[in-house]
Amino acid sequence: MFMRTIESLGPLKSKTVIIRCDLNVPLSDGVISDDGRIRASLSTIRELREAGARLVLISHLGRPKGVPDAEYSLRPVAERMSELLGAPVRFVEETIGDAASAAVSELSDGEVVLLENLRFTAAETSKDAGERREFAERLASLGDVFISDGFGVVHRQQASVYELAQLLPSAAGRLVAAELDVLQRLTTDAKRPYTVVLGGSKVSDKLGVIAHLLERVDTLLIGGGMVFTFLAAQGHSVAASLLETDQIETVRGYLDEAERRGVRIVLPVDIVVAEKFAADAAHEIVPADAIESSRFGAEGLGLDIGPSSATAFAAAISQSETVFWNGPMGVFEIDAFAAGTRTVARALTETEGFTVVGGGDSAAAVRALGFSDDQFGHISTGGGASLEYLEGKSLPGLEVLA
Ligand code: 3PG
Repeated sequence: MFMRTIESLGPLKSKTVIIRCDLNVPLSDGVISDDGRIRASLSTIRELREAGARLVLISHLGRPKGVPDAEYSLRPVAERMSELLGAPVRFVEETIGDAASAAVSELSDGEVVLLENLRFTAAETSKDAGERREFAERLASLGDVFISDGFGVVHRQQASVYELAQLLPSAAGRLVAAELDVLQRLTTDAKRPYTVVLGGSKVSDKLGVIAHLLERVDTLLIGGGMVFTFLAAQGHSVAASLLETDQIETVRGYLDEAERRGVRIVLPVDIVVAEKFAADAAHEIVPADAIESSRFGAEGLGLDIGPSSATAFAAAISQSETVFWNGPMGVFEIDAFAAGTRTVARALTETEGFTVVGGGDSAAAVRALGFSDDQFGHISTGGGASLEYLEGKSLPGLEVLA
């Protein structure tokens, strides 16, 4: 897919450039637990500062309800970005309005402002295209050109992603271009064997991608909470583990289709079953087809894949030339249930093949477990966006840059 590049915008010295970033980082009490998305935004920002552009950064954070909410302020992000950039990033407490306009008009060449959370204005995510357009027009009035670099949000038809790109000369930023390169490699040019590891809690979020991947990959490794719907589809009882009963039939269809196509779907052979969802919960490892045989009986909760499964997954990964991974294998935030995710992450770092970790959550998981970005071929900043791309869906934020 061809998208307009920054070069197409001509010389940007002294131009006011609006950059849509995805600075939606995990934040608790004002503390950022993973700054990966801020770091990923820096390459475009650095390049444009050096070119003498005046930068207006815009982003969302979380899902506030269309009104200002201090919990979702981007202020801590401005501070962190300033540290990483080694230059001031002025934070403005509003997105549109007099203070925002004034701060933008005071910018000198190479200077940066970050405006407050776009989603403090309901029009940003409105279903009404007219409302979104009106908000985008206010945003557009702040700059000369627009660069779309928030890869994590390109699957959203929102004012700052879609309408704004139509109102100013616009182009893809370096992050969006780099992410797209990787995804194109996965969809058109993946070396085989090609293995996809899917985890996370909800199978319903991944159904589209599973259907699409069955046509393209050699092996699908399934872990995380979604595993229990697969086990149920094979006729096993899963005790009190997460289960989407309304998806069992569809999953059964996928298992049949995989068999017809010769795609290997590998499910765990053992599961770590716990008494309850808690860090201090008693737990034990049982065969995946006998979850109810744990000492917790029908109350047992599967919270991680077991060690034999993790070893089997690691072996499949190590034999692959291409690996895409989205979604943790278990409740990695709790040490007792992190081993499956850790083993899969380590296998990715050790394989010679091209490895891609897709998604904010999976990226945060590998960093939280002590791995670094450069141990993987690519860590995508977009979970939903990369899955929708792999599903073959058209992404509004990319289409508008074509
Ligand atoms: C993400 O975290 O996947 C992106 O920032 C998009 O956020 P959203 O799902 O709230 O639109």
